[in-house]
Amino acid sequence: MEKNIQSVENIKIEHAIDGGHIEEGEVEALFEFNLLREIRRINEGNNGVIAELNLLSLPESFLTLLQDINPHINIAEREKLATKILKIYSPGSGKREALMHKYAYDLINSQENKEDFVRIPELLLHKEITLHNPEVKSMLEANNINTNLNKVDILIMDLIDGYDLITYLYKIIIKNHSELVHLKQELTTDGDQLHWDDIKDAVASVFNFHVPGGKATDEGARNYEMIKVYNDNRRRIIDYLQKLPNNPILPQPIWQRLKNTLNLFEKNGFRHNDQHERNIMVSNDQQGAIDDIYLIDFGSAWQRDMMHDDQTANLFVNLDEEHVPENELYNRYVCLTRSKEEQRSLKTEQRITVWEKTFQVMKKNLRYQEVMLALEEKIKSDSLDEETLTNLSRKLTVSTDNFCEIVLPVLWHVAQDYDKNLVSNYVTSIMSKENKQHVLNELIVFKNLLN
Ligand SMILES: Nc1ncnc2c1ncn2[C@@H]1O[C@H](COP(=O)(O)OP(=O)(O)OP(=O)(O)O)[C@@H](O)[C@H]1O
Ligand SMILES: [Mg+2]
Repeated sequence: MEKNIQSVENIKIEHAIDGGHIEEGEVEALFEFNLLREIRRINEGNNGVIAELNLLSLPESFLTLLQDINPHINIAEREKLATKILKIYSPGSGKREALMHKYAYDLINSQENKEDFVRIPELLLHKEITLHNPEVKSMLEANNINTNLNKVDILIMDLIDGYDLITYLYKIIIKNHSELVHLKQELTTDGDQLHWDDIKDAVASVFNFHVPGGKATDEGARNYEMIKVYNDNRRRIIDYLQKLPNNPILPQPIWQRLKNTLNLFEKNGFRHNDQHERNIMVSNDQQGAIDDIYLIDFGSAWQRDMMHDDQTANLFVNLDEEHVPENELYNRYVCLTRSKEEQRSLKTEQRITVWEKTFQVMKKNLRYQEVMLALEEKIKSDSLDEETLTNLSRKLTVSTDNFCEIVLPVLWHVAQDYDKNLVSNYVTSIMSKENKQHVLNELIVFKNLLN
């Protein structure tokens, strides 16, 4: 574990500045003074505060020090970086996050086809800093960073010029939703003036988001309820987004890169373990369309071989525990990569598979067989009428609803030799008909189409 983190860990004790040598204590003081004294907070998660680090505003001597630790921290390459300051210092956890972050970064960047995967911001430095200055401490406390142990953990990485997935999607909602026009103006004048909290509250009220906190008494039930409520809220916005005329909102090839990445991780015994909307970031082109995708936050990640002997691993992952599937987030939003037509035909494909199976099962049942054969013959000979349909359904003593379920596999079977798309569309439309007369009408249209 040690050897892999050398390049991101500040392990040098002496650094040459202006030809002289300074001690580790002094290095920390410089970090405290130059980096933490005035943080420019740009975002926040449950575990960390993200601040923008503008290299141009740093004193030259401190920049030299940073560059001495990692030559990649240079103005010529990137003027701005992101600093993640962990909210609660606990020995080893920042180092562990840095190690996992670097592992994932290196894994993707060692692939020949790295553009098929998500991007990960390059981690340039991890450092634990002992705090001495009370001013810095209160400044950090004001930013929700706990300084009780007089230490902080920082990770310096590439600043991503984009939004996390949920902010991005909420902004699309604001641009489109008739009840949110007042915010839309703010978005167009100066997008970054609109705070996440305002966006979140506005969307929550328009979509009647539920808040967890029902009658559940034990922790398990509370968690279950919470997940259910959040998923239900998500469902509402996904349904809305799916119906927008400008769907697909997520470009399929870009969203696919997340899946490729998760597969690559799995092959290498790596898990991100915190797949949620705020840990995926996207950037836009000039027209506002997504042109890149990033995965961030390796605070819960885990790597099979590296963590094997590491006791801290047990703090994060119980090896025997069933995990939340890593691709849950991917699956949740994959519908936003498909146009309405694609969604419809995919649904049909799925139904057809079901019908195919039902048909095979029904074939084995004598009572159904008789009805199926009669139905097939009627459809083929163009002599299907409501009376026949009623008689057949009576024979099976099934309700209309069930009868539709029986008709459809037969229909699909009869029509197999015809144009698949055409048939799919019709079968799907029949599926939505409520009564027998409608089914019949559709069957007749369908039959005519086949001729
Ligand atoms: N390198 C970066 N560049 C730009 N923004 C970032 C960067 N890293 C994080 N962010 C933003 O800051 C937020 C919080 O970062 P991060 O997910 O690392 O913190 P966290 O507290 O560990 O999150 P969680 O709540 O998932 O545990 C992200 O959701 C994202 O919006
Ligand atoms: Mg996060």
